[in-house]
Amino acid sequence: MLKGNGLEEKEGTVLITGAGGFIGFYLAKRLLERGVTVTGLDNMNEYYDVRLKEERLRQLAAFPQFSFEKADISDAAALKRIFQAAKPDLVVNLAAQAGVRYSITNPDAYISSNIVGFYNVLEACRHSADGGEKGVSHLLYASSSSVYGSNKKVPYSTEDQVDHPVSLYAATKKSNELMAYAYSKLYGIPVTGLRFFTVYGPLGRPDMAYFGFTDKMVKGEKISLFNYGDMFRDFTYVDDIVTGIVNVMAKAPGPDEDGVRYKLYNIGNSKPESLLYFVETLEACLMEAGVIHSPAQKEFLPMQPGDVYQTYADVSDLERDFGFRPQTPLKEGLRRFAEWYAAFYGM
Ligand SMILES: NC(=O)c1ccc[n+]([C@@H]2O[C@H](COP(=O)([O-])OP(=O)(O)OC[C@H]3O[C@@H](n4cnc5c(N)ncnc54)[C@H](O)[C@@H]3O)[C@@H](O)[C@H]2O)c1
Repeated sequence: MLKGNGLEEKEGTVLITGAGGFIGFYLAKRLLERGVTVTGLDNMNEYYDVRLKEERLRQLAAFPQFSFEKADISDAAALKRIFQAAKPDLVVNLAAQAGVRYSITNPDAYISSNIVGFYNVLEACRHSADGGEKGVSHLLYASSSSVYGSNKKVPYSTEDQVDHPVSLYAATKKSNELMAYAYSKLYGIPVTGLRFFTVYGPLGRPDMAYFGFTDKMVKGEKISLFNYGDMFRDFTYVDDIVTGIVNVMAKAPGPDEDGVRYKLYNIGNSKPESLLYFVETLEACLMEAGVIHSPAQKEFLPMQPGDVYQTYADVSDLERDFGFRPQTPLKEGLRRFAEWYAAFYGM
């Protein structure tokens, strides 16, 4: 068990699903640097350039307490085998089919990874205590700001109604929250859900705007600004997300008034930025890092299906329970991304 926030005094293994992914990689690295034993699991799918996933695993492989399992969480038997071998004390489920727009054209991947896969993770946690084993002491899983859909009230609070998803991706994440609550109530598994808000950083995801825009600018292609540039996003730097996860990992939720050990938190910067300011800042950072030499050509287009106008996290619960809130300014985070991009792609 991880004691307090003192990751150094650890016993037991942390299983991270989606460890080849963006957030999973940074979480694994942070834990390994503190001497924690980590089993990473990932199916290494080709949703985006696998070389990025391979590079992340290459860096993690440098740590002797890291082991990796290439497996799919929708494969219940494989998951059971991995749980039996690793006997994880803590499980952080980050494996999922991410992306709002892709869910419009590829719904199957979301049902398979986010619904069936998540159900398998819950079942594996439930049965981890079979035969007198200690079992999983705390399950954390990634939800998303997309569950807030087109809610008008800001900032978004975990107390708000989230019954009107505008994409299948959001619907799967909301379903995860319901399934996790039911498992926590029925089987006494301590569970914490984390709604992440637009996470960005070096070695990140090429399907996200900051990375996709950069690729286009490098090629001299136009970038598309939807809703004619009138959108707001609560951009959250990946190190802040990881600090949030690590804080939450160390403290499994106690029973609520119904005796259920379940909690849900937003993790976001709580400082929404306009799309135009974001693009301007990205351009400036990329020019400074020598990635591009002039601002991007832009096309202004109407809103896309599945997109939301704004995201804005209320993180007061996180701050109250853990004394932490994300704070990396967008400019600083994008500067680090631009420097990484220049180095990684040899510019
Ligand atoms: N990055 C963000 O802005 C953001 C925002 C909100 C929520 N999230 C959630 O956080 C989690 C991590 O996101 P990320 O940005 O690191 O994405 P990512 O795509 O980089 O990481 C997910 C990893 O999971 C793996 N994976 C997918 N399906 C799998 C399956 N069925 N079995 C095993 N592995 C599988 C992928 O290969 C990938 O490496 C996801 O659940 C995502 O939905 C991310």
